[in-house]
This record gives sequence, C-alpha cells and structure tokens, in this order.
Amino acid sequence: MIRLQKFIAMSGIASRRAGEQMIRDGRVTVNGQTVTKMGVTVDPAVDKVEVDNRPVRIVAKKEYILLYKPVGYVTTLHDPYGRQTVKELVNDVGTRVFPVGRLDLDTSGLLLMTNDGQLANRLTHPSYGVEKEYVARVHDVPTNETLTLLEKGVKLDDGMTAPAKVRLVRGGQPTSTLALIIKEGRNRQVRRMLEAVNHPVVSLKRVRVGSLTLTGVPSGTWRRLRTAEVKGLMREVGMEY
Ligand code: URA
Repeated sequence: MIRLQKFIAMSGIASRRAGEQMIRDGRVTVNGQTVTKMGVTVDPAVDKVEVDNRPVRIVAKKEYILLYKPVGYVTTLHDPYGRQTVKELVNDVGTRVFPVGRLDLDTSGLLLMTNDGQLANRLTHPSYGVEKEYVARVHDVPTNETLTLLEKGVKLDDGMTAPAKVRLVRGGQPTSTLALIIKEGRNRQVRRMLEAVNHPVVSLKRVRVGSLTLTGVPSGTWRRLRTAEVKGLMREVGMEY
C-alpha cells in the first residue's frame, strides 16, 4: 500500500506536492470516490485511481528476460495442478514478467518473458514472421522427400503449415536430429508437424527466437536482454524503442 500522493508522483503525471494539491482540489478519485484528505493509501494492483476522470497508472519498468526453460516446467505463472512453473525460475527478476508464447512441459529452450504486452503480442503473432528455431530428435531417419514436405507445408488438423526451413543435422538409428525454423507458433506445432510425417519427436528444444540464442545461459537460468537486443527485436516487429 502506498500513499495516494506518492502513487500520483510515481505515475509521472505530477510531483508529489502537485499531487497533494490535486487531491485537495478534489480532482482525484479512488475507486470512483473523490478523495480530498491526505493520508489515504492505495494498492496499485487493485485500486483504480483517476485524476480529472482519467485513469492513472504506475508505469512499471519494462523488463525483457531470456530464460532457458528446462523440461518439466509449465509455461504459466500459476499451475492449478501444482506443477513447477517458469515463474519460479524468474522470481528473482523483481518485476512480474509474462511468458511470450509457450513451450510445452516437455520442451526445453529459449523462452522470452516480459511485461511489455505490445512486444509480446507481436512476437507471438504469425503476421510479424519472427523466426523460431528448434532442434528436434525424432524417430528414424527422415528422407529428403520428407524434409521437403516439412518445408513446403504439412496438413495439420488446424490447416496447412506455412513454409519452414528444415535441415537434417545428423541422421541415425534409432533417432535423428533435425533443425527446423518456423515463423508460426501454433499449439505443439513442431511435434504435430513431425508426427504428421511419421517421425514422432523424442525431444524438442527451442534454440533461437529472432536473433537471440541460448549462448551463455545455463539451463534453468535467465539473463536480461541488452538494449541493443531489445531494439533489434522491436525493429523486427515494427516497433519503435
Ligand atoms: N512446437 C512444439 O511442438 N512444442 C513447443 O513447445 C514449441 C513448438
């Protein structure tokens, strides 16, 4: 809970003293009630503060986190079944950050987390075409025809997949390793694509989003993006820094 005049100051619309004057002048409401006395406190997470009938918010510092998600963590902030979540891995960031898209429970790899809703939306929207690269271990050795099929598009129950890039990294028995670059991000897409061509996934890891990779980030840990990396991501999706 913080004092109303501090809340107004933290929102950046006025100094604390000017905020106090706004309160005295009857310009400030909390949850629809005009407040003219000093000393009222508010909870920024739940209370609705307005000045001159316009909502006032504290602007949280924008955080951009690159997490190396291990297998066995759910990509959510709260799991009703009590399983481990990615939130536990980024608790020490100090600000609430949300996952950008989703990696399956049994998928590992690069997961961006941020409180920048606009960037998150654009990164997950297929129309912006940000590349996501996966390394998949699959059963058996896919033929060149199969690789071409995956590249051109395969039919899933929610429609054809957009063109992808696919490379056989290592062919072998009983499993082979593939690198796949896709620009969409449908639910379990890579698993479903590989299932559709009869090479079910044994393990799956996302190794790249845009120009970001996991280099130097041990599994289960995170790092902040550098300013240049944030700018690069924004440029890719047509946003200004
Ligand atoms: N495709 C999948 O099948 N799973 C993921 O977690 C990400 C992409």
